[in-house]
Amino acid sequence: MKMKELGFIMCFFLATGFMGCYYDKADIAYPAPPACDTTTVRLSVELNDIMKKSCFSCHGGAADLGAGIQLEDYATIKDYADFGLLISSLIQDGTTSAMPKDAAKLSDCDINKFKAWVNRGSPQN
Ligand code: HEC
Repeated sequence: MKMKELGFIMCFFLATGFMGCYYDKADIAYPAPPACDTTTVRLSVELNDIMKKSCFSCHGGAADLGAGIQLEDYATIKDYADFGLLISSLIQDGTTSAMPKDAAKLSDCDINKFKAWVNRGSPQN
């Protein structure tokens, strides 16, 4: 390798290493997503919105595709939350059936809302 090429490569590493140009550009191109707000998580509002889109088609109302698990019923969702099945199905850790069934995993933010609600004792709020 010629000295000139070596010099060029060294400069490249120094520039990206010390100035972080590459990462700076990436920050501009991909701004950080808005922070996930889990300060207030109500079953009847925030979680209901998520479940209307992703769960009630099988687990709500007259739907009969969710193995009889009626998540619109507080006592039922509370039981699944207390036994840890609700979160393990959402994080898809392999100990329960992955939910939502046959669809993409919920976003990290949506999963964090469920976790926050469960950590506060799964209140009927
Ligand atoms: C397409 C229908 C469908 C959708 C949508 C769906 N489920 Fe399910 N769910 C099922 C079925 C069927 C079962 C029974 C287990 C199985 O067959 O995998 C189940 C089981 C479960 C269980 C029990 C898991 C276990 O292993 O005991 C939980 C908790 C659950 N679902 C929560 C959810 C949540 C929360 C959502 C929305 C994020 C959701 N499900 C979306 C069909 C669905």
